[in-house]
Amino acid sequence: MITSYFRHPRSSLVPPTVCVIAGDDAAPEVMRPTVEVLRLLAPDVCFVEALSGSEALTRYNDAFPDETRQAIDNANCTLFGATGGPSRPILWYLRWGKETYVNVRPVCWCPGYRSPMLHPERIDYVIMRDNLEGMYPPREGDIAELPSLSSSKSWWQSPPVEKSGAYAVRVCTDEQIQHVAVAACELALRRQAAGYPGRVTLGAKYSILPRTDGRFRTIVAETVQTYSSLSYQEFLIDDLARRMIALPETLDVVVLSNEHGDILADVASGSIGGLGLSPSACYGQDYAYFEPVHGSAPDLLGKGIINPTAMLLSGAMMLAYFGYMEQAERLERAIEQVYLGGTHLTSDQGGYASTGELVEAVIEAVVAMK
Ligand code: NAD
Ligand code: IPM
Ligand code: MN
Repeated sequence: MITSYFRHPRSSLVPPTVCVIAGDDAAPEVMRPTVEVLRLLAPDVCFVEALSGSEALTRYNDAFPDETRQAIDNANCTLFGATGGPSRPILWYLRWGKETYVNVRPVCWCPGYRSPMLHPERIDYVIMRDNLEGMYPPREGDIAELPSLSSSKSWWQSPPVEKSGAYAVRVCTDEQIQHVAVAACELALRRQAAGYPGRVTLGAKYSILPRTDGRFRTIVAETVQTYSSLSYQEFLIDDLARRMIALPETLDVVVLSNEHGDILADVASGSIGGLGLSPSACYGQDYAYFEPVHGSAPDLLGKGIINPTAMLLSGAMMLAYFGYMEQAERLERAIEQVYLGGTHLTSDQGGYASTGELVEAVIEAVVAMK
């Protein structure tokens, strides 16, 4: 169960418009076939492709042309491949421009996934990542600027102004933490209705960073308390990383800051079998975008072997967002069947299939289920 978390507030009478942004390097190689599968499943959805990255640079001399911004704004959501650099301004716009405040990253092993774990069937949880604050967006500068901050006198150690170097600022607002905390609780509730334990787990370095991670911890803990059916546990982030590997069955909804969530989502992905398998969705008040956890996989560019599963499952999360539950489930079940069969898997999963062959197998399974 990975798809039915958040719903777009649209009228179900009007089919949604989806902006498609393929992104950089090998990302278009998973986006193209994913849109093909989604069109098959939900023919009334309107997909509008917008240029990004090097294609946009060639055509408009701008990696993020106005046309692309308008296509994002005119759509109800965006499907985004990944950026390898050139498309980064687009990703920034999807996060901070559209205020998609949470990033949901399901971590669920399915039979056939090539996990390095001895008992991967224990892995079925979701990371709820802050998508807007923390160490991102970058706010950096020179060490020499730091003493001008009035609070610097109370710091545990004054900055070494006699040395050259840099600093980075982390910003956490109560409002944003609250958004993330409520989203985690609502997700835990929905999962609880489907048989999960209704447990929210916080991971942070609250021991050392009381004002930022400590605040994150307090607000998440207080928010969970207002949901009488949910339980709460908290761990220092390093211990949580260990638990993700040693005790994944104890996790249900895991709340993390932006940078912790970024890093641990890749660790979690490794535990189920790799980045080719991990979808994600970023939700705001009335906008969402869907992207795999992985990046642009430049090492796979043009080889035709990049695993499309993460992108396809992100597409399933998109279908669910618009209420196409039957189609989303059909897509998930088709992917499960392909992995159970094990004969059409890409090389990251120990197989010999191309990206296209895996997608063909998924399409066959989708059609057979009709
Ligand atoms: P990456 O996720 O692109 O690749 C890491 C490793 O995983 C590589 O060996 C790659 O081949 C493999 N891999 C990734 N996706 C795969 C798939 N679908 N199937 C099979 N193997 C897959 O991470 P990276 O190499 O650290 O970063 C490459 C670029 O992607 C960087 O510019 C980075 O900033 C960017 N990035 C973007 C996003 C995003 O757009 N949201 C996310 C992560 C990384
Ligand atoms: C991700 C990526 C991004 C992040 C990069 C490309 C900014 O790693 O979406 O996981 O760190 O959020
Ligand atoms: Mn990442």
